Amino acid sequence: MFRAINQMRRFSVDLRRSGKTIAFVPTMGFLHQGHLSLMEKGKSLADRLVVSLFVNPTQFGPNEDLAAYPMDEARDLELTQKAGVDAVFIPDVQHIYPSGYQTVVSLKFLSGHLCGLSRPGHFDGVATVVTKLLGIVRPHLAVFGEKDFQQLAIIRQMVKDLEMDIDIVGAPIVREADGLAMSSRNMYLTGDQRQQATCLFQALTASRQLVKNGESSVEAITRTAASTISAVPETTIDYITICDPQTLEDVSFVSGPVLMAMAVKVGKPRLIDNMMLTP
Ligand code: PAJ
Repeated sequence: MFRAINQMRRFSVDLRRSGKTIAFVPTMGFLHQGHLSLMEKGKSLADRLVVSLFVNPTQFGPNEDLAAYPMDEARDLELTQKAGVDAVFIPDVQHIYPSGYQTVVSLKFLSGHLCGLSRPGHFDGVATVVTKLLGIVRPHLAVFGEKDFQQLAIIRQMVKDLEMDIDIVGAPIVREADGLAMSSRNMYLTGDQRQQATCLFQALTASRQLVKNGESSVEAITRTAASTISAVPETTIDYITICDPQTLEDVSFVSGPVLMAMAVKVGKPRLIDNMMLTP
């Protein structure tokens, strides 16, 4: 386990010198099966696997849950050890953002949709910290979950635009038995809310079925999904959007594979989920 940037960097430089390939899975910790599935994928694709645990303050808005974000370093270290991770990088916030730090990585278009609209600045924080982590860990490939579909799209675009020479690998959403997408934030859900939270997956699967049955009106699909979710107590819809999976721009009709994405508050916790709809 490394806390110092130079130690982490030396580990990677030595591996590269000896001809080994490095996979990297960046996380904010409080690990669950979703994270572990990315690690498994990373391990299968490279000689060595590095995982970072860092709750990145710059991707949280002023009224978001930074101070309350769950953390359990001892448990995370145990899980990474069981998963066969070769190095865990746990940097201090003052080393990632020392006084005088001033660079921000920002994408012009992909950040302006979906979660970018309700979380201004969030994806600048993500793109910036991922750039910095990639610069320290120097992996050959990095694995990101489709659970955060927009984040994955942004990282792919950024790596391409900046010629970073790193393969970005996507991994499917890991769900609980009842369909709820795994998330570190699910631990905030109370007993009733945990049950109510399945409405996101239910609305997505019902929409997928509508599209399979020939429905092509985005207005009709999102209206049905919104009424399914609104009927569940304690839910507040942030957005329900059907968009082009490449550009994330809204579409009006489903004429090919499209992405349905949503953010819904169940009580306080804000949950996100998505699914591809294919006619
Ligand atoms: P975090 O929310 O901890 O997620 C780390 C990685 O795990 C992301 O790539 C995310 O998409 C993936 N992940 C989370 N839940 C998943 C699930 N149910 N199934 C599959 N993958 C899942 O995303 C972040 O941290 C941060 O924004 C980060 C990239 C680390 C930058 O700070």
